[in-house]
Amino acid sequence: MTLRFDVLIIGSGLAGQSAALRLAQTHKVGLLSKRTLEDSASGWAQGGIAAVLDSQDSPEAHIRDTITAGAFLNDPKSTRFVVENGRRAIEWLVEQGVPFSRDEAGYHLTREGGHSARRIIHVADATGQAVQDTLTRKVRRHPNITILERHIAIDLITGGKAGLPDNRCYGAYVLDSDSGDVLTIGAPHTLIATGGAGKVYLYTTNPDTSTGDGIAMAWRAGCRVANMEFIQFHPTCLYHPQAKSFLISEAVRGEGGILRLPDGTRFMPAHDARAELAPRDVVARAIDFEMKKRGLDCVYLDISHKPEAFLAEHFPNIKARCLELGIDIAREPIPVVPAAHYTCGGIVTDQRARTDIPGLYVAGEASCTGLHGANRLASNSLLECLVYSEAAARDILAQEDVALPDLPLWDASRVADPDEEIVISHNWDELRRFMWDYVGIVRTTKRLQRAQHRIRLLKREIEEFYSHFRVSHDLIELRNLVVTADLIVRCALQRRESRGLHFSRDYPEMLPQARNTVLKRPSRQTPQPASATTG
Ligand code: FAD
Ligand code: SIN
Repeated sequence: MTLRFDVLIIGSGLAGQSAALRLAQTHKVGLLSKRTLEDSASGWAQGGIAAVLDSQDSPEAHIRDTITAGAFLNDPKSTRFVVENGRRAIEWLVEQGVPFSRDEAGYHLTREGGHSARRIIHVADATGQAVQDTLTRKVRRHPNITILERHIAIDLITGGKAGLPDNRCYGAYVLDSDSGDVLTIGAPHTLIATGGAGKVYLYTTNPDTSTGDGIAMAWRAGCRVANMEFIQFHPTCLYHPQAKSFLISEAVRGEGGILRLPDGTRFMPAHDARAELAPRDVVARAIDFEMKKRGLDCVYLDISHKPEAFLAEHFPNIKARCLELGIDIAREPIPVVPAAHYTCGGIVTDQRARTDIPGLYVAGEASCTGLHGANRLASNSLLECLVYSEAAARDILAQEDVALPDLPLWDASRVADPDEEIVISHNWDELRRFMWDYVGIVRTTKRLQRAQHRIRLLKREIEEFYSHFRVSHDLIELRNLVVTADLIVRCALQRRESRGLHFSRDYPEMLPQARNTVLKRPSRQTPQPASATTG
């Protein structure tokens, strides 16, 4: 089956939904979501959105904090672009109806690590859910937006793939997970808004949707990918056998939370003068150091000195979730460990959200805009989603009409039903475990090489499986995860210094000059798997 839209948006997080609402005023939009509209990292965001809203604060201070946290790798132009558009982005959310938390003085602004001022606007401790609920309600009602849930993009359709002389992106092949059919979706403009790749690690704060699909698809199509070595580990993920991926927001430290060893000793001041409010890379490394040195399973985050009413007002969800698990945060410290949280690198883009391929845009966590440098400053991600999805929408709206050629259909005539699903789950587990062990918070060249060796074997096995068997949701994700893992390790091996989130024992110093790690796929014709052969 073939569908056609003016714009195809792959992903329904904040980047995807905000772009859809802006574009749908005049354009027919197809919005893909591989699970439901509600499933995304955006919906899980807790702390809030960084923006200069206080008269005591300034864009210069926000820019300075972003670049300091980013270990001076940030692109100054895109950092200024995002920061200076922050207030407008928040005003747009207010217009959409997002109920940001208020106090007597106006919007309540909280504080997080690395910020020199209170500048995080939030909805208690569930900002992402409030933002996404507000936008999702509008998207579901919009007559110009066709929502395709449980539809997962497999690969982009470029001119080359369609047998045309150009290399424009004309849409994507998409699996309908319920029927098993692969649709050909054509559009003169495609926006990748597929989020990050936290699921490449065994322990992560990310939802199941974060499997690096957009990054892998764009890479296969020929886009440059940069700075993938900078995987951010959030210092405080809840450590509890029944809690999978539950974050304890950085705002808990922003509001006075103290990190302690099991005997109650506070340890952050010995690691950094900014103590618990140091940027995330510093805090995560300090926790990792203390855990390894002392053989600990976790450390503790203590906010029990704050009044119970304060905790109930500021952290209602964290308080309730911890209580369900038998932890009363008003009376006892919270067991926490670092976990993979954010992909700072991604598809290289410019200030109009364009990629290297005409007709293909990217916004949100899948992109590398230059804002985050070597380490993202807390709460700058949702802001980046808003600013760059608007930039993409503006650029698309300014384009002349592009004629859509006839696109070849997906040909599944030479593939069979998979004989051993276990291959997928086994390879998935293996990948995530060795990425955690060998490509984690502290790295060595030897461990990275070990990971690279295993990735090569897995890639071969997965590509072979992909060429012979019918595609499934899990196979598509696994294929993308292994490509993403490969990109992370290749970038990490290329960086011969320690900077921001990339810390190597073999190269502990930071080099005087900050350089991006940019990967470009060699321009050779890649062998087409049978299932992707167009007919
Ligand atoms: P996502 O919100 O992850 O959305 C990606 C979408 O793409 C999903 O709908 C997914 O289903 C879809 N998708 C993916 N692949 C495919 C495919 N192949 N086909 C079809 N659909 C696909 N940042 C902040 O700034 N402030 C915070 O307070 C904050 N808190 C966080 C808390 C947690 C627990 C987590 C995990 C992250 C947090 N972050 C925060 C980071 C921030 O939430 C994310 O970086 C941001 O939401 C990413 O938005 P996105 O739109 O790029 O991607
Ligand atoms: C948090 O609430 O700690 C997450 C904030 C972020 O990832 O920016």
